[in-house]
Amino acid sequence: MVFSLGADHAGFEQKNQLASFLIEQGYDVIDRGPETDDRVDYPDYAVRVARDVADGVADYGVLVCGTGIGMAMAADKVPGIRAANIITPEFAALCREHNNANIITLSGRFVDLETNKEILRTFIATEFGGGRHEQRVEKMMALDSE
Ligand code: RB5
Repeated sequence: MVFSLGADHAGFEQKNQLASFLIEQGYDVIDRGPETDDRVDYPDYAVRVARDVADGVADYGVLVCGTGIGMAMAADKVPGIRAANIITPEFAALCREHNNANIITLSGRFVDLETNKEILRTFIATEFGGGRHEQRVEKMMALDSE
């Protein structure tokens, strides 16, 4: 399984630590930056990760900014993306089970690293539920071409 990761200055530190965590778990990681904690604009990194996922270069994306909110808003502009801003393991499970999220966006400022690791573990371990959720996700994705 391949993960594409990106951040801004507020998520830089956790992005690096979460990349190591994923590699330790045996996953492949594409690090789309940034490479320093200099101030940057989150949409520039959200789009890199979103394109990796939309193009099938990566299976899932992980984006970290101060809150995760801007990253989700930016990534969701890219057709094919279902990015969810997650701050609890419970919501990590639900965004996979109900919404088939393909990018998770995390808070580097308000959620500690251990919680974000648990969130990521849950995100990875949870399959899309299908069934009644299938046509809802299809309707959502049809909006990409309107
Ligand atoms: C940067 O200060 C902050 O606005 C950004 O990291 C993020 O939280 C935006 O949603």
